[in-house]
Amino acid sequence: MISCDFAPNEAWDDAWIAFKLILQPWKWKKGKELDLIKEILLQKIYGSCQKFPSRQCSTCVERPQDLCAVGIPPSSATHKFSANLFLSGRSALNYLLKSLNLPKESEIIVQGFTCEAVVLPILANNLRPVYVDIETESFSFDPIDLEKKITSKTRTIILQHSFGITPKHREIIISIAKQHRLLLIEDIAHGFQSQKLKVKSQKSIYLMSFGRSKAISSVFGGAIVTNNKSIARKLELIEKNLPKPNLFFIFRTLIYKPLSMVIRLTYDFLLGKIIHKLINLFAIFPPEITKKEKRGEYSSFFDKAYPNALAILLLHQLNKVDQVNKQRAKICQVYQRKISNLKSKISNLALSRYPLLVKNRSPIITKAQKQNIFLGNWYNQPVGPASLNLAKVQYQLGSCPVAEEVCQHIINLPTNITIVSAKRIITLILNKKSVKCADF
Ligand SMILES: Cc1ncc(COP(=O)(O)O)c(C=O)c1O
Repeated sequence: MISCDFAPNEAWDDAWIAFKLILQPWKWKKGKELDLIKEILLQKIYGSCQKFPSRQCSTCVERPQDLCAVGIPPSSATHKFSANLFLSGRSALNYLLKSLNLPKESEIIVQGFTCEAVVLPILANNLRPVYVDIETESFSFDPIDLEKKITSKTRTIILQHSFGITPKHREIIISIAKQHRLLLIEDIAHGFQSQKLKVKSQKSIYLMSFGRSKAISSVFGGAIVTNNKSIARKLELIEKNLPKPNLFFIFRTLIYKPLSMVIRLTYDFLLGKIIHKLINLFAIFPPEITKKEKRGEYSSFFDKAYPNALAILLLHQLNKVDQVNKQRAKICQVYQRKISNLKSKISNLALSRYPLLVKNRSPIITKAQKQNIFLGNWYNQPVGPASLNLAKVQYQLGSCPVAEEVCQHIINLPTNITIVSAKRIITLILNKKSVKCADF
């Protein structure tokens, strides 16, 4: 089985760590790994003190011989930089929006090529999503449409790094936000290119996700990483007072890693299919999306603190992320050389999924499925998934024509796979003679 959605990040080492953790329930709720994760996230986004002097705390400025000067990231507690962890990206965004205390019906700009996980927290906070069209190089904001849609009620822009690609017009959008005095939230839930994050808005806010189909996964999880002191302080308070998920939820999450490996390994011999069906039938794994969310309503199911057990799983994923990213970059390069129709130069990027525009999507997806290859569909409508009623998320058909066209043609190819698997996928697509031309 090869899949974009089902456990694309899992390997046997992850399964083994989760299995050992099942036998150590005293580590599940609290532990030192939570603080460690926060430090690593800060380091990944803002760099260490040595590289980024602006990250020095007052102690380090006064005593430069201290930790910062030798390049060891100092504790976030003494800094204006903060990472706060939640049980999902959705809940992280929900609490971030709450902490902003915006007037009712304030407008939050999002792109018309996103998923309900971004829009439902906006609606839950009595705010209004305003959809902006995209360009087709990085599947992010078209700045001309963005400027048109800013009104006196606009307060925030959510800039999405689709598939982990840095938005083509990121710097322009940072300056538009600055010019209109709007808060910019960079949504890096799909991943990000760290070298390109060096240009920062003065007060930067990043939304991350560690969900099971994202670039780094602890099955569930999300974070807000920011250097905005007042937001950081509010989020810290919220995080401290949130309940952790119960032990049964943590157990069901931990077994995801070993069981998903067994399923993936045995899927081609029927056994995996049967286990998968049974797991779905008895709802063994906690749902990725709740029934309420499927109906287009925000669910507070994930409004919880991030438990230490998941921090341990994430720590392992972060430890090997450079190695995994090397493989992702290699696979993206193969796709780029053989079948790409993207105008952008994404060939040496480590993307969580590789986007491809095709003429006839359904036959490709069906043919691939017959070979147990499950391609991704981010996004098959301007606010995914396709089963969502767009009226529920206030999306008006025709308001983002480019995004709507892209949604008809896009498929996502997996990147955390072997070269042999990538070649199988390429052959399958080329046989269908369906790659759309570059002047899309
Ligand atoms: C662009 C984007 N942002 C944020 C999220 C929220 O992540 P989570 O699934 O952890 O709630 C998602 C989820 O798919 C997403 O695609």
